[in-house]
Amino acid sequence: MAQEGFEPRLIGFLCRWCSYTGADLAGISRIKYPPNLTPIKVMCSGRVDPTFIVQAFASGADGVLIAGCHPGDCHYDVGNYRAMRRYPMLMNLLEQFGIERDRVWLRWISASEGNIFADTIREMTERIKQLGPLNWTERTRAITEAV
Ligand code: FES
Repeated sequence: MAQEGFEPRLIGFLCRWCSYTGADLAGISRIKYPPNLTPIKVMCSGRVDPTFIVQAFASGADGVLIAGCHPGDCHYDVGNYRAMRRYPMLMNLLEQFGIERDRVWLRWISASEGNIFADTIREMTERIKQLGPLNWTERTRAITEAV
């Protein structure tokens, strides 16, 4: 639920070949977007293990972006297809914890799409503001205590 003055903390796992370079381009082009995202450079979106997402939430993130090369453009051939296949499974896992699906975004952003990167961060920040703080510890307490 939205909370007055809430500024979401977003973690972005960005493929170094496309999306991280797209983020760089947004910066070089001086495109304005909210400062809520902490980028983490990964070699490929396929490198993003689902435990990274859980760890990001457990460490205080309110939303997580996974961004990589467009399908067919992955520098490791099929890494982004692997990310694509994992995504629905991750969503199902998070639902078990009562985490809204909109807290994890998977997007394809190329090195030349600085404007799309900026738009994505704008949209994501607004959506997570609407959802409100995640409060991971509170939400997962019931589950962890039951185990
Ligand atoms: Fe960019 Fe695989 S190298 S998604």
